[in-house]
Amino acid sequence: MSKKIIAPSLLASDFANLQHEIEMVNQSEADWFHLDIMDGLFVPNISFGMPIVEAIAKYAKKPLDTHLMIVDPDRYIKTFADLGVNHLTVHYEACPHLHRTLQAIKAEGMKAGVALNPHTSINLLEDTIQDIDIVIVMSVNPGFGGQSFIENTYLKVRDLKNLIERKNSSALIEIDGGVNATNAKKLIDYGADALVAGSFVFKSEHPTETIKQLKEVIA
Ligand code: DX5
Ligand code: ZN
Repeated sequence: MSKKIIAPSLLASDFANLQHEIEMVNQSEADWFHLDIMDGLFVPNISFGMPIVEAIAKYAKKPLDTHLMIVDPDRYIKTFADLGVNHLTVHYEACPHLHRTLQAIKAEGMKAGVALNPHTSINLLEDTIQDIDIVIVMSVNPGFGGQSFIENTYLKVRDLKNLIERKNSSALIEIDGGVNATNAKKLIDYGADALVAGSFVFKSEHPTETIKQLKEVIA
């Protein structure tokens, strides 16, 4: 079985000590950095933008898994590639020409991801799943860290896994929102490959140990 991935979300980290937080992830058993970009339009919150991504890229020694919660993400594909981002995920709901957007992301040398809001059916990926490297299944409504996990996610993951296998796609399934040591194993059992964890890691007393615990739970 392929290696399962933990991606701490820096949204929940201490921005006043960002370099320290990045070094913690570098030295931990985490696999990716998850970066949440919010524009105040697609979601009712604004997180951080290019200068912060540039600062993170300077110190991060693991892939930058970047989740764009913004309208019209095509405008910034090249900018994120130039900043050194490795995975660029756009929202299904923000892309009227999703196929073209995915091609544009890959043309810039990044892995192309699609995120689905909790209300968005996985069946809508039927015609694009072969072009997708990562599907982020949102297990909370995007916009904020620290929300509770939506239980319907398990069934969505199972159906998405079936779609991926049926279509011979190599897409990875990533879960984002409310992930903790209690739901992590079940998500993997239903077919998830990667789990984002924000608050559960950064608000814990010993984040490095919490990451280790998550890795053990899903191993
Ligand atoms: C939510 C973001 C998530 C968030 C996860 O809009 O996309 O990545 O940071 O945070 P937790 O793990 O606290 O739900
Ligand atoms: Zn995210």
